[in-house]
Amino acid sequence: MMQDTEAAPKAVKQLDHRYEGIAKVTGRAKYAAEFSEPFSKADLTYAYIVQSTIPSGTIVSIDRVAADRAPGVIAILTPFNAPKLNPGPPQPPARRNLSLLQNADVNYNGQPVAVVVARSLNEAKAAAARLKIKYSSKVSRVNFIENLSEARWPKNPGKEPAGNHRGDLQAAFAKSSVIVENTYVTPIQHHNPMEPHATIAWWEGEKLNVYDATQYISGVRMSLAKTLNVPFDYVRVVNPVVGGGFGSKGSMWSHVPLCAIAAKVTGKPVKLVLDREQMFGPVGGRPSTVNKIKLGASADGKLLAMQQDVVMNASVMEDFVEHSEGPTKNLYMSEANSVTAKVVEVNLGVSTFMRAPGEAPGTAVLEIAMDELAEKLKMDPVELRLVNYADKDPSHDRPWSSKHLRECYTQASERFGWSKRGITPGAKTEGNALIGYGMATATYPANRSAAQAVVRMLSGGRMFVGSGTQDLGTGTYTIMAQQAAAGLGIDPKMVEVRLGDSTLPKAPVSGGSQSSASVLPAIQDATTQLKLKLADLAISDTGSPLHGLKTLDIEAKDGKLINKKNQSQTDSLVDLIARNGGKPVEATGSAEPSESRDAMTSNSWGAVFAEVAVDRDTYMVKVRRVVATYDIGTLLNDKTGLNQLMGGITWGVSFALCEEAHVDPVYGRVVNESLAEYHVPVNADIGTLDVTVLNIPDVKFNPIGSRGIGEIGITGAAAAVANAIYNATGKRIREYPITPDKIM
Ligand code: MOS
Repeated sequence: MMQDTEAAPKAVKQLDHRYEGIAKVTGRAKYAAEFSEPFSKADLTYAYIVQSTIPSGTIVSIDRVAADRAPGVIAILTPFNAPKLNPGPPQPPARRNLSLLQNADVNYNGQPVAVVVARSLNEAKAAAARLKIKYSSKVSRVNFIENLSEARWPKNPGKEPAGNHRGDLQAAFAKSSVIVENTYVTPIQHHNPMEPHATIAWWEGEKLNVYDATQYISGVRMSLAKTLNVPFDYVRVVNPVVGGGFGSKGSMWSHVPLCAIAAKVTGKPVKLVLDREQMFGPVGGRPSTVNKIKLGASADGKLLAMQQDVVMNASVMEDFVEHSEGPTKNLYMSEANSVTAKVVEVNLGVSTFMRAPGEAPGTAVLEIAMDELAEKLKMDPVELRLVNYADKDPSHDRPWSSKHLRECYTQASERFGWSKRGITPGAKTEGNALIGYGMATATYPANRSAAQAVVRMLSGGRMFVGSGTQDLGTGTYTIMAQQAAAGLGIDPKMVEVRLGDSTLPKAPVSGGSQSSASVLPAIQDATTQLKLKLADLAISDTGSPLHGLKTLDIEAKDGKLINKKNQSQTDSLVDLIARNGGKPVEATGSAEPSESRDAMTSNSWGAVFAEVAVDRDTYMVKVRRVVATYDIGTLLNDKTGLNQLMGGITWGVSFALCEEAHVDPVYGRVVNESLAEYHVPVNADIGTLDVTVLNIPDVKFNPIGSRGIGEIGITGAAAAVANAIYNATGKRIREYPITPDKIM
């Protein structure tokens, strides 16, 4: 096993409560749609998106007479009157192909085809219903599974190539004593954060301001500037709190520029909030994947060959690849390995990243296949994973920056009581329930990007920290306060945090589980700079006990500057700023991944164990317990961190048992486009969650030693439940979600 040799970073004092928690529960925290300033509230107008009702074709005409006469209507934008925009390249982080009323084409059912602006939302909706849109339909296709033979390589495969091969696959299969080969299916899923997408846009002359529910204020700023042909500096995006993102808000969708255009045309501030139904199509979702998986092993359980060929749906508008073949490349050692990912075009809205894109469905399918292999080998599933433990990254043939997955298996299996698992499926009963145990491995890559931050020492021992990052409800505010406070040894309660404003120093998208790993090192750098500036201020200040010392002889601790050579010689930061006339001292900092990153792979890891009870008569599955242990580097905050992992596991249970978008086979609209019919678990559906972390710093990854945790929780959890259902019932279900009809 790899040893981490670098000194472990000092533990940072935690905030006990979410920084913004009280503001949220008292309603003071403002989400994007809740602002009524700085424009006059009386001026605020409401936009409603009109969606296509056919899956493919052209808009022939729009009869708008009745709509124009409807009460309260201010403007109606259609492909026939909308301003022509810069046809520039789509912007990162995804090359989105937006629907901005630039032509009359219809590519999927639900595509934005008009925008109605009115004095109130109800008036906008009522007017929208009076629009008479005539279409000329083209032949459409909405079911990709019936058309798998037409799978093609993606045009835009994303960060990973669509195919990857090493070793002699056929030879490795030929010498395998045991082979399992099956097809596993995951459904289309749609992220539904509590807060739907929402934008308020208003213009001040040539300058555009937006409140927008987004995971990436700088990305929206960039995308709006390019799309609307406005100088970058003229766009400001503000977003202090976000009610969940999960990838849906990682890129800018059509409604954001449409809102800005509506504001331009009407000369008024415009609010545009998507209905819950509008969350199922025009703003992405996870594509369905069909995974052919073949594993070959020697009699003692050593994997010799691993093969996975994936086909998924992609929109006719744009390719997006859900890399569900990803985990098969590097989760275990194998002599030979081959994966491919292909797409079939359909008339559906474009797919996008959804919590642990790739790894969520990837572990959901591979880890069932591993369970099947273990059974065929008559081997314990944990043992099979240990036999094939990857001590280095097999896909890049390079070391991990830190990996302690063995300890995860040990700790979680002990806490769970894995040794009590009945090996024969269906053998364990309790009353009318069949009881089953299952396990799976969790993994997600550790990402990090360049970020900047600003810190200020204020009067009264208070501090300010700011960065243009986002808090999706994940705890960014909380850990920013902690990190800033740690730099000067002050109480994190004394720190004021600002984020979610594009006028702040730039930070990356809060996606790919990278915010903490990117932003905290920038804050660390900023506080180091601040410490030097404060020391210099004390040195030049004749009133300071540290006057005349050398900068490098001064350290900051417990809210004081201290002479390292004579610890009794101190100057409190409160006094120092007071003598400075109360004037704050400011410093900026930045951090980016080092080049040595290319010499290693950084991933997070986990072991997930689940116990289910399956009713013999109804086949309803109750997940009684999930026990999971993760290796995520340093845990930054117990409350917000463990909470994210629990949320991820809950979503894994949802993946296993509930979630699926049903597409109408003729009209191509998602028919269960509400939270009543698109099933997700509620509290009563989730038994006990026992989540622990090893808390071993990964200092080769970043100076904080912390890898992101936003996404790993969902990985592995679905397969742990699926494998537990098999252990309970003897029914091997290879198509998610595992609903009672499939088990019976
Ligand atoms: Mo995450 S799906 O990268 O927001």
